[in-house]
Amino acid sequence: MGTTKLLKFAYLKTGFIAGLFAAFFVTSVQAQDAIADRKAMMQAVGASMKASGAMAKGQKPFDAGTAELAMRAMNAVALGIDSKFPADSKTGGKTTSAPKIWEDMGGFKAALAKFAADTGAGIEAAKGGEASWKAAFGKVAQNCKSCHQSYRVKKN
Ligand code: HEC
Repeated sequence: MGTTKLLKFAYLKTGFIAGLFAAFFVTSVQAQDAIADRKAMMQAVGASMKASGAMAKGQKPFDAGTAELAMRAMNAVALGIDSKFPADSKTGGKTTSAPKIWEDMGGFKAALAKFAADTGAGIEAAKGGEASWKAAFGKVAQNCKSCHQSYRVKKN
């Protein structure tokens, strides 16, 4: 190989490698965003449970509006959060998502569908008064533990 040829080769190779790094960087930034987004959405679910839990425990008087709003917020997350688990977001960003999500995406989506159904029923139940809401709330609350046990690893 002549010097010019060699230089050209080295240049192309460097360009190719730089391109690979750029592609990797872009995907990982998107993956980081997906992780941050799904965490924020789960925090909204946590906040909704907190607002409702105080009413369920009688620490706060039942308010149908608050009860319904919390169910709606959780229902919206249940219906949309599946888009925040792209294949390249299995690790990083302090995620506590378990690898099982990607090994068993069908099961994970079924758990989300159940969460959506239970919170959907909760929206209607909140309109029906305290007793009907409380029963629905109990069912909604079971989703947290059951999904977290299967699809989440505790890291902190
Ligand atoms: C269908 C599965 C599923 C259901 C149902 C579910 N979660 Fe989660 N939740 C997850 C996953 C997966 C994570 C981990 C997200 C990550 O770190 O990538 C998580 C994380 C969280 C977090 C931590 C967010 C953070 O900042 O890291 C909170 C809080 C939370 N969930 C609350 C709840 C509550 C409360 C409920 C029930 C009302 C609930 N979740 C129902 C799957 C679920």
